Amino acid sequence: MTEENKLKLIVGNWKMYKTIDEAHDFIQELLPLVKGSHSKVFLAVPYTLIHPVSKELVDTEILVGAQNMNDANEGAFTGEIAGKMLVDAGAKFVIIGHSERRSLFQESDEWINKKIKRALKDGLIPILCIGETLNERQEEATSAVLKKQLEQGLAGITEEEMKKVMIAYEPVWAIGSNSAATATIAEKTIEICRQSIEQMYGSNVSNHTKILYGGSVQPENAKLFLREPNIDGLLVGGASLTAEKFSKIINYQQESVL
Ligand code: PGA
Repeated sequence: MTEENKLKLIVGNWKMYKTIDEAHDFIQELLPLVKGSHSKVFLAVPYTLIHPVSKELVDTEILVGAQNMNDANEGAFTGEIAGKMLVDAGAKFVIIGHSERRSLFQESDEWINKKIKRALKDGLIPILCIGETLNERQEEATSAVLKKQLEQGLAGITEEEMKKVMIAYEPVWAIGSNSAATATIAEKTIEICRQSIEQMYGSNVSNHTKILYGGSVQPENAKLFLREPNIDGLLVGGASLTAEKFSKIINYQQESVL
């Protein structure tokens, strides 16, 4: 694996927050704080911010992306957005199947699969989100749920395409809850995800698939996750909204661990 590939990836997910001016202020505050950091950084912003933010970040290593897209190339789908429009605006990646999309907007594994295929066609890096609910964990169904989400979400994706796909393991019970998974649980569960990917694609692919942890990541716990061997990065919601907190996560190596 190259040095570049070993860098941890920190993805901010702004959800439905920030105006153009607020995004500009955030970036001006963030850039000096993360200068010389040894993490890769992605920022998933609302649609209206993709163009201005990607322009503002053009001379940096930070990539801008979207939080969702439609699976169609174009068409009469009022209120939806196509992958090629995201690319046109400056997006390089797209989050697909976030648990909020699954639960609040009824996205099925089948639809998520179509979106991933379209994203790949359009040249976007898809980040497929998977995760179990608290009930499913308590019923010891976690492995089966994740396996199903991976198998159905990735159905028909070739080995070559899979090299461009990233996975975010986000236990539903840990998202926005202030109660993150422990690093041990996150590591063990991500290892299980990697095994499922190995069963589907072989170890050549599974060893190189980037798998992120998400759910109540904060400056205080980021380092605990990132020192686990199977955790390649973090998907950060709430703590990505302030430059101070987000920069501390990006600079996790400098943070002390309690
Ligand atoms: P959180 O959100 O960090 O606020 O828990 C994570 C996510 O939803 O991607």
